[in-house]
Amino acid sequence: MKWIEIEKIEKKPEISSEGVEAALNLAAAQVIRNLPEFTDRFQKAYSENGFYEGTENRDWTTGFWTGEIWLAYEQTLAPELKRAGEIQMQSFLDRIENKIDVETHDLGFLYSPSCVAGYKLTGSQVGRKAALMAAKELITRFHEKGEFIQAWGPLNAPDNYRLIIDCLLNLPLLYWATEETGDQRYRDVAEKHIHTALANVIRPDFSTWHTFFFNMETGRPDHGATCQGYRDGSAWARGQAWGVYGTAVGYKYTKRESYIPVFKGVTRYFLEHLPEDLVPFWDLEFGDGDDQPRDSSSASIAACGMLEMAKYLPEKEAAYYTGIAKRLVKAVADHYAVKDFSKSNGIVLHSTYSNHSPYNTCNHYGVDECNIWGDYFYMEALTRLHKDWNIYW
Ligand code: GLY
Repeated sequence: MKWIEIEKIEKKPEISSEGVEAALNLAAAQVIRNLPEFTDRFQKAYSENGFYEGTENRDWTTGFWTGEIWLAYEQTLAPELKRAGEIQMQSFLDRIENKIDVETHDLGFLYSPSCVAGYKLTGSQVGRKAALMAAKELITRFHEKGEFIQAWGPLNAPDNYRLIIDCLLNLPLLYWATEETGDQRYRDVAEKHIHTALANVIRPDFSTWHTFFFNMETGRPDHGATCQGYRDGSAWARGQAWGVYGTAVGYKYTKRESYIPVFKGVTRYFLEHLPEDLVPFWDLEFGDGDDQPRDSSSASIAACGMLEMAKYLPEKEAAYYTGIAKRLVKAVADHYAVKDFSKSNGIVLHSTYSNHSPYNTCNHYGVDECNIWGDYFYMEALTRLHKDWNIYW
C-alpha cells in the first residue's frame, strides 16, 4: 500500500488535551533551554545531525525562531522569553532599516511571527514599526502587469518572473498593515496576488504547482515548474501544505466563498497522499515503501491550516477538519518530536528543506533534519489546540 485510504485517517487516534499540554510544555522547555545561545543570534534554517547552529539575522527563516520564543512566552509567561523576543525585534528593525537581505517576498515569513506577534502580545512599537516597514518593502515586489508578487531574485529577472505557492503565507503581513494604517494599498496587492496565485498554481485535481512563471511582455500566465518538488508534475508536500494554510488565511481575510472549495480540494489531495503514519514524504508522489525522506513540517503546517479554516465552517465540517488536525499533530508529537534534548536542540525531527532530485532545480540541504519552520508550526498547532489563539499571521 502506498497511501492511506482517506476514510482510515478518521480511525487514527487524536491527541488529547493532556497530550497537547505536555507536548507544548516540552517544546517551550526546549526553547528556554536554547535562549543563552540564541538570543543575540538566531537558529539556522535547518539542523545538522539534529543540532542547529547560530546565524545572523539573514535568510527567510529567522522569524520562525522568534515566533517560537513568542509561542513559548504565551505558554509560560517566562520573563526571559519576553526579553529575548524584544532583543530579536530590534534586530528585525535594524534589518529592514538597513535593507539587509530583504530582496525577497518572504518578508511575511520573517516579520509576522516575530514583529507582528511581538506587537500583538506586548504592544511593542519596535515590532509595529519594523513590520510596517517590511510590508512597505514587500509591495515593491508587486508586478502590475501580471498582478503578482515576484518571489525571488532581483525584480524583473527573466529567470525569476514568477510567483510561488509559499507566498500565500506572506500576504497576512499586508492585510495586517492595512488594518493597522488604513492604507488600502497593502490589501489591494494581497487580493490581486492571491487571485492570480490561486488561478494558476492549483491544478484541476487540486494538486499544486510550486512555482508559476508569467510572460514578461504581456504579464499573462506562462507555465508551472517545480523548484523543491521531485518533478514538475508532482506535488511538493510543503507546497501543498502552504496551499492548505494559504487558502485558509486567504479566506480569513477576504471571506471570499470561492476559496472554500479550493481549501477543501487541496486539503483532500494532501490527505489522500499521506502514508499510514500520517506524516508525508517530502513529495506527495512518494508513500509507504519508498526509500525517501519525510517532511514532518508539512503535517504541522497543514494542521494549522485546517484549524484556522475550521473557525469559518459549519459545525460538522469544522469538527471534521479539527479532528484530522488533532490526528496529524498526534502523529508528529508521538513519533517525530524530540524527547531527549541530548540528541537535538530542535523540536521536531525528520523534516526536509530542499531535496535535490534529477528533475528539480534546488540545492540539497536540510534533508531529514529539524527545520526551523517545522518546529514553529508544530508549536503553533499545539497552541491552537490548547487555547483560543490570537493569530500572528
Ligand atoms: N518557503 C520555502 C520553503 O518552504 O522551503
